[in-house]
Amino acid sequence: MGSRMEGGERQGMGNGAAATYITENTTLHHADFLGIAGKMEDNSIDMVFTDPPFELTGGGMKNGKLNYKGGEIFQNCGFSTKSIGFETWIPEIYRILKEERYFYVMSNDRNLFAVHKACIDSDFKFCELLVMDKKMTVPSTYYPKRAEFILMYRKGGYRKSHFSGSTIMEVKMPRGSEKRHPTEKPVPMIEHLIRCSTLENEVCLDPFMGSCPVGEACIRTKRKFIGVEIEKRWFKVSQDRIKELPQM
Ligand SMILES: C[S@@+](CC[C@H](N)C(=O)[O-])C[C@H]1O[C@@H](n2cnc3c(N)ncnc32)[C@H](O)[C@@H]1O
Repeated sequence: MGSRMEGGERQGMGNGAAATYITENTTLHHADFLGIAGKMEDNSIDMVFTDPPFELTGGGMKNGKLNYKGGEIFQNCGFSTKSIGFETWIPEIYRILKEERYFYVMSNDRNLFAVHKACIDSDFKFCELLVMDKKMTVPSTYYPKRAEFILMYRKGGYRKSHFSGSTIMEVKMPRGSEKRHPTEKPVPMIEHLIRCSTLENEVCLDPFMGSCPVGEACIRTKRKFIGVEIEKRWFKVSQDRIKELPQM
């Protein structure tokens, strides 16, 4: 099992991945993160940014109509919403992150508290709640929604960094032909967080990379990137995205 691509792909690396794509600074695994995590060393990663999968419990849209019955509104969108409990993978993030380093995890309003509990139970220290302002609203049972959230945590002590901007980040969401994934996140916002939290050549991880905006942000900021994606379709999209970028 497994393949690795050096600027290409190969099978059978024994790393638990169905395929692995490697360039000088980027490693993409087609795998279940929990399989890859087991092979990653303690204290080996400088930053984690992720937008994890979770089952939606209410609200949202389905086939263009409001869906208040709950359930997996993305079930026909081609990516896995299979339950992977926050309490399952967040302790692994804590283990592999270096001391004095930052973990950023995206959440909607409904999952904020469960994410926070899993982080605190894993010994992470809460740093900040950041707001991604999409500058457009989507219908909701209550107030139309315009934000998603990024919870920021620290492992161990504070690392002196160059934090700039504010806790509210206005973004332009990928749309139309520039949009590769149903829940794609904007690269400039991720680039900003990476620059604020890491130094050049440090290693960032996204355990649920989707279409790989974190990988693109790492290349643009001269950081190394490790990404994991369970669905073959999004692994391929990620690989193509990295191939298309000039390596800086
Ligand atoms: C919310 S999406 C991430 C989208 C991404 N931020 C982007 O901008 O394209 C979560 C991704 O995690 C993947 N996923 C779900 N379970 C996984 C697992 N156990 N290991 C790795 N990836 C997984 C899903 O297929 C999905 O593409």
